[in-house]
Amino acid sequence: MNGIVKWFDERTGWAKGIQEYMVHPVPRLVSPLDFLGVAALFLFINQAVTGIFLAMFYVPSAASYAPHPSLSMAYESILFIMYKVPLGWVVRDLHFWGANLMVIVVVTHMLRVFYEGAYKKPRELTWWAGVGLLLMTLALAFTGYLLPWDQQSFWATAVGTAMFKYAPFLGHFLMTMFQGGEFTNSLTLTRFYSLHMLVLPAALVLLFAVHFIMVLKQGMSFIEEGEGAPKQKTVPFFPYTAFQMNIVVLATAAVLLVIATNYLAPLVAPADPLNKAMYVPIPLWYFFWVYQFLKWVPYYLDPVGVIVIPAIGVLALLALPLIDRGPHREASRRKPIIAAGAVAVAALAALTYLGFLTVPTPLPSTLEAQAHPTFSGTIEPILTGNCVMCHGPTGGDMAGQDFTTYAGVMKGGTTPVKGPVVIPGHPSKSLIVLHVEGKVAPRMPLGAGPLHKAWIQDIINWIKEGAKNN
Ligand code: HEC
Repeated sequence: MNGIVKWFDERTGWAKGIQEYMVHPVPRLVSPLDFLGVAALFLFINQAVTGIFLAMFYVPSAASYAPHPSLSMAYESILFIMYKVPLGWVVRDLHFWGANLMVIVVVTHMLRVFYEGAYKKPRELTWWAGVGLLLMTLALAFTGYLLPWDQQSFWATAVGTAMFKYAPFLGHFLMTMFQGGEFTNSLTLTRFYSLHMLVLPAALVLLFAVHFIMVLKQGMSFIEEGEGAPKQKTVPFFPYTAFQMNIVVLATAAVLLVIATNYLAPLVAPADPLNKAMYVPIPLWYFFWVYQFLKWVPYYLDPVGVIVIPAIGVLALLALPLIDRGPHREASRRKPIIAAGAVAVAALAALTYLGFLTVPTPLPSTLEAQAHPTFSGTIEPILTGNCVMCHGPTGGDMAGQDFTTYAGVMKGGTTPVKGPVVIPGHPSKSLIVLHVEGKVAPRMPLGAGPLHKAWIQDIINWIKEGAKNN
C-alpha cells in the first residue's frame, strides 16, 4: 500500500474493501441497457449542479417586478438568466432537458430491470428504493415546472394541484397544504420551491443511498443465479465495466448537450391568474396518460384517473417482488408477469400518444375582436401574452422595444428601424400591425404561430381610435 492509501486505511479501514470491490467479478456480456442506472445518476448530478447555478439567480416570488408590473419577480429572473447571465440559457436548458431525459432514463431503467426479473430475491430492497426514486423524479419534475411562473406552468400546476382534493379523507387538507390556499397562488410558488430545492432532493438522495448500497452489496445481477445455474463468464469490474460505464455517461452527456444547445427550454407569457388571454392549460407530457383518461371519462370518475389508477400502479410495482417469486429470471419462464407488464406499458404508451394527438390549441376559435379595445384591458394582455418573451424589459430587448408598458410600446424601436411602430390613427402604416400580419418580414411573434385574427383586429381597432393609454 502506498502512503496515501495507508494513511486513509489506518483511519477508515476501508482500503481493502474498496480494492476488492474494484476487481469484483461482474457478468462479461453486458448491454448498454445495463448502465441506465448510471446514466440516471449522471443526470441527477447534472440537475443538482445546474440547479445550484439557477438558484443563484432565480427569485421565487410571484410579486410584481417594480419597473414592469405585468412581470413577476420569478418570470423576470428567468428572463434575466436566459438573456443577461453569460451562458445562463445553456444552464437553464441543461436543467430543463436534463429533467425530461431523467424521466425517460429512469423509466427505461425500470423496464429493463422488470424484463430481466432483477427485482427478485435478494434485490427486493433495491427495487423498492427504485420505485421511490421514480416517484421522487416525477415529483421533482412537477414542482420544478411551476417555477418560471409562466402561463403554461401556472395553469398546468393549477389543474394538477386541484386534483389533490380527490385523495381520500385528507384530500382537502393536502390540496390546501400544497397550494397554500384554495387556489394556486404566490404561496404555491414558495412551497413548490422549498419542496423542489430541499425536501425532494434530500428524499431522493436518501433513497438513492439505499439503492446504491444494495447494488454494491449484491453486485450486478446475473440472469440466472443460485444453485444449479449455469456458470457465466465474468470479468473484473475495473477496468472493463468501469470503462463501459464511462462511455455510457459520456454518451448521455453528449445527447443532453446537443439537445440543450439546440432547443431552448420553453417560456411562454407570464402567469396571469385572471387568465385574460384565455390560456388553455396543458399538463407535462409524462402526465398525458392521466390527462387522456380524464378526457374520456365523465367528471365524477376523475378520482379514478387521478388517484385510483396511479395508486394501483404504484402498489403493483411495490408488490412485484412479492408476487413474482419463482426462481427463474428469464422472460421466457415468466410469461404471465411479462404479459401483464406489457399490457400496462402498452396502455400507458397508447394513452400518452392519444393525449399528444389531442392537445388543445391554446385559444378558443370563437374569440371575437372588440370594437373599442382599451390598452389596459385588451392590448396590454395581448402584447404581454405573446411578445414579452423577446420584447420585454430584460427579455432580449429585441429591436430596443419593451412591450410591457404603454410608454414602451409608443417609444418605438432602435433596430433596424428607428422610431415608433405605432402611428395613432393609421393602423396600415403602423409597423406593429404590418409585422403581426406578416406584410413586413419577419412575421411576429417570431418563432410562434400567427396571432389570432381577433387579436390582430383588436390592435388595428385600438390604433384606429388613436392608440390611447386607456
Ligand atoms: C422570439 C422572439 C420574438 C417574439 C416572441 C416577438 N418578436 Fe418582434 N422582433 C423580434 C426580433 C429579433 C426583431 C428584430 C427583427 C428584425 O428586424 O430583423 C423583432 C422586431 C419587431 C418589430 C420591428 C421593430 C422595429 O423597430 O423594427 C415589431 C413591430 C415587432 N417585433 C413586434 C412584435 C410583436 C407585436 C410581437 C408579439 C405579437 C413580437 N414582436 C414577438 C423577436 C421577437
